[in-house]
Amino acid sequence: MKAKSLKPMRLEDILFSQGFGTRRVCAGLIQQAYVKVNGETVTDSGEFFEPEGLHFDVQGTDWPFQEHAYVLLNKPAGTECSQKPSTWPSIYSLLPAPLRQRPQKAAVQGVQAVGRLDQDTTGLLLLTDDGQFIHKMSSPKHHVPKVYEVTTKHPITAEMVDKLLAGVVLDDDPKPVKAAACEAVGELHLKLTLTEGKYHQVKRMLAAVGNRVEGLHRSQIGGLTIPADLAPGQWRWLTDVDLALLKP
Ligand code: URA
Repeated sequence: MKAKSLKPMRLEDILFSQGFGTRRVCAGLIQQAYVKVNGETVTDSGEFFEPEGLHFDVQGTDWPFQEHAYVLLNKPAGTECSQKPSTWPSIYSLLPAPLRQRPQKAAVQGVQAVGRLDQDTTGLLLLTDDGQFIHKMSSPKHHVPKVYEVTTKHPITAEMVDKLLAGVVLDDDPKPVKAAACEAVGELHLKLTLTEGKYHQVKRMLAAVGNRVEGLHRSQIGGLTIPADLAPGQWRWLTDVDLALLKP
């Protein structure tokens, strides 16, 4: 996303803001000629640049300046959405260090997952260091639809679909939760759209109608789907077009 008319910044501050380490480390990278701006090596860490639209290169890695980082990850199965995973590798290990190291904003450092997916769930996951964006995307008030492709253990009946649309009670939570849309697309394959994200919501909703989730894939958030060329485990920056597709 475009930065809002930021003032020129010293190159070491630009690198620092993008997660390339402490200011001292960033100054060292520049002074040791590891950094190029617009294809030219810059060795003066105090040289000023307009950050907006700037592309720089650190040790061969091209990096666009982003005031906030917004990325999407095609989450593979067998990964945990936690910085400190208990059993499986963390999704954060799939991201480059600068995204994990962006300087602390509020209480957290680096990008954070916008809502979590279970270890065995695959598909579209957004990450950012913009707390307001996380709040907007996660709040049920904003009704951002999330589409899940569900593989079930037992055949899906019309009655199950009706119940999921009408609302089911989860455990001891008295307020029923409803699917915003629900369609059986095969005997054991359901397309379910939710606008909230309670803990294990899809699995608990399917259990509440007497079925069981065998496979779960998130294919869409708002109008954004997983790019066809983004393999499981890969990430990419969100473009302005992608961000517009996510607008509630
Ligand atoms: N609902 C679930 O049960 N699991 C997920 O990972 C996402 C939604």
